[in-house]
Amino acid sequence: MSRSQRKIDHIKHALNQEPPGGGYDDIRFVHQSLPETDAADVNLKQKFQGKDWDYPVMINAMTGGGGTETERLNESLAEASAYLKIPMAVGSQTAAVKDVSQEHSYTIVRRKNPSGLIFANAGMDCTYEQALRCVDMIEADAMQIHLNTVQELVMPEGDRAFSGILAGLEKLVRDLPVPLIVKEVGFGMSRDTINKLSSIGVSRIDVGGRGGTNFASIENARRSLPLEGFNSWGMTTAESLLEVRGFGGHVTAAGGIRDAGDAVKSFALGADAVGMAGPALRMANEGGTEAVIDGMNHMIEEIRFIMTALGTETVEAVRHVPYVLHGSLKEWAEQRPSQ
Ligand SMILES: Cc1cc2nc3c(=O)[nH]c(=O)nc-3n(C[C@H](O)[C@H](O)[C@H](O)COP(=O)(O)O)c2cc1C
Repeated sequence: MSRSQRKIDHIKHALNQEPPGGGYDDIRFVHQSLPETDAADVNLKQKFQGKDWDYPVMINAMTGGGGTETERLNESLAEASAYLKIPMAVGSQTAAVKDVSQEHSYTIVRRKNPSGLIFANAGMDCTYEQALRCVDMIEADAMQIHLNTVQELVMPEGDRAFSGILAGLEKLVRDLPVPLIVKEVGFGMSRDTINKLSSIGVSRIDVGGRGGTNFASIENARRSLPLEGFNSWGMTTAESLLEVRGFGGHVTAAGGIRDAGDAVKSFALGADAVGMAGPALRMANEGGTEAVIDGMNHMIEEIRFIMTALGTETVEAVRHVPYVLHGSLKEWAEQRPSQ
């Protein structure tokens, strides 16, 4: 099957999923009746590469590489990211590196968001030269490399060899002209992985936990004999955030972020921002640019209100609010205490 057809397949399967969420039902905030905060004073802005990042939300890597259908989706997502002043990552650019006729489905993003934050994206076996090509193609402000071992293993035509990846990442983090962001795609990130990444100088991660778009199920739907054991593989996003405490770099929580409540709980667990892929895809698919802007704006307004109710004016301050853990998240916290 061609790379371009596989991308269209992934979109179709992802649209049909109803994700359970990234484990956030197991965390509850302690309510404050006297928060002593005004909603107007909640400040959600951060800066990255000298550019404004107005809200701690981003549109995560999905498309490009599937012809005009993916160009149209990227157009809507890019217009929304430009309007909201939030970053957007394109989907894996390997398709365009291998076939130049796919470039238009990525370059549309820079055309529609000429001055905003755009992240390039490629797989973990990407060479330095290929990464540079991806960055140049869309004048990217950062390069995302996705770690997707489980997806590759379940993918009928996927990779089967995963040695030497860390050495490749070390070269990218050292030599690329833009920051490197290492991300998962829905199986979560452990403390062990973070320690390896820290040791080579990676300072920006996206934990990409379980509970959102499930790439094991998507690839299993493309197999004649499914590898069922992988459908529930990995750590949820909330569990991953517990794992990466103490990392010290910039952390994006992604994978099953459903709403503002999940976002603010992510901040409480140490995330600096949240990323959304599947939900943004659904909005763009149903109502184009306007639907993405409306959906994201609604979520941002609610984030502001939840932070007001908690008495917190910054994302940093949310890390210090009291909360209670339940169920499997509590068990995870007890059995994997912070080091
Ligand atoms: C249709 C689709 C395609 C995706 N393609 C990529 C990709 O090319 N590169 C990548 O790093 N992640 C890719 N992802 C993974 C997302 O960036 C994200 O890590 C994952 O979907 C979990 O977030 P979610 O639950 O908000 O969807 C894709 C997700 C979707 C839904």
